[in-house]
Amino acid sequence: MTLTAPVTFLVGENGSGKSTLIEAVAEAHGLDAHGGRAGRKYGNDRPKTPLGQQLRLEYTSAGSRMVTGPRRGRRGYFLRAETAFGLMRTVTGLPGYWQDDVTIMSHGEGFLAVLDAMFAHPGLYLMDEPEAALSFSSCLRLVALMQQLADTGGQVICATHSPLLTALPGAQILEVGEHGIRQAAWGDLALIDHWRRYLADPSAYLRHLFATDDADRR
Ligand SMILES: Nc1ncnc2c1ncn2[C@@H]1O[C@H](COP(=O)(O)OP(=O)(O)OP(=O)(O)O)[C@@H](O)[C@H]1O
Ligand SMILES: [Mg+2]
Repeated sequence: MTLTAPVTFLVGENGSGKSTLIEAVAEAHGLDAHGGRAGRKYGNDRPKTPLGQQLRLEYTSAGSRMVTGPRRGRRGYFLRAETAFGLMRTVTGLPGYWQDDVTIMSHGEGFLAVLDAMFAHPGLYLMDEPEAALSFSSCLRLVALMQQLADTGGQVICATHSPLLTALPGAQILEVGEHGIRQAAWGDLALIDHWRRYLADPSAYLRHLFATDDADRR
C-alpha cells in the first residue's frame, strides 16, 4: 500500500477490512490500536493486532525523523468512534490534550473539540469513520482540518463511508474489497454512484426494500 497524497481515504463495504488496516498502521506507528495519542497507551494490555505485528511502515524522510525521535515526541492521533468517548473522558484537561470538558458536550461537539485541539501539528493522523458523529457542516470543518494537516506536512489516513469527506481535492482514495486494495477516482466510486441516485430519487431504492412487505400485506 503506497500513500501518494497527504490525505488517503480507505473506502469499501462493511467488513472489507478498513478498520483492520487502520488499526495495524496505528500499531506499527506506535499508536494504541484502541485509539489515542502517539506515545501513550491507554491502560490496557490487550495483545497487538496480528496485522499490526507483521506490518512494516516505510516513511518519507520527514516521517523517519519523527519516528526515530523520542517516543513521546511522536506526533499522531488515532480517532476511532467506538472507543473515543471513554478515552476522551479519561484525558480531558490533562496537559497535551484539550481543555474543554467534552463530557458535557454532545457527541459531535466533543469530537470537534478533540479534532481542533489534537490536529494542530504535522504527524500521522488516523481516523475511523469520523463522520459518524458529525453533521454536514461539521464534516465540512473536518475537511478543512484535513486540508490544513496536508498543507503543514501531516499524513491523514481515514476509513470512511462519506461521499463528502472523500471529495477532498487531491486526496488519494483506496478501495478495499475482495479485489484487494485498488486506487479509485471519487466520481467512479460505487458509494458516490449510490448516493447520487438515492438523493435524486429515494424511491428507486426504497421500493425494492418494501416490495415484499406490501405484497405480504395484500
Ligand atoms: N483477527 C482476525 N482474524 C480474522 N478475521 C478478522 C480478524 N479481525 C477482524 N476480522 C474480520 O475481518 C473483516 C474486516 O473487518 P473490519 O472491521 O476491518 O471491516 P471494515 O472495513 O472496517 O468494516 P466497517 O465498514 O463495517 O467498519 C471482518 O469480516 C472481520 O470479522
Ligand atoms: Mg470499520
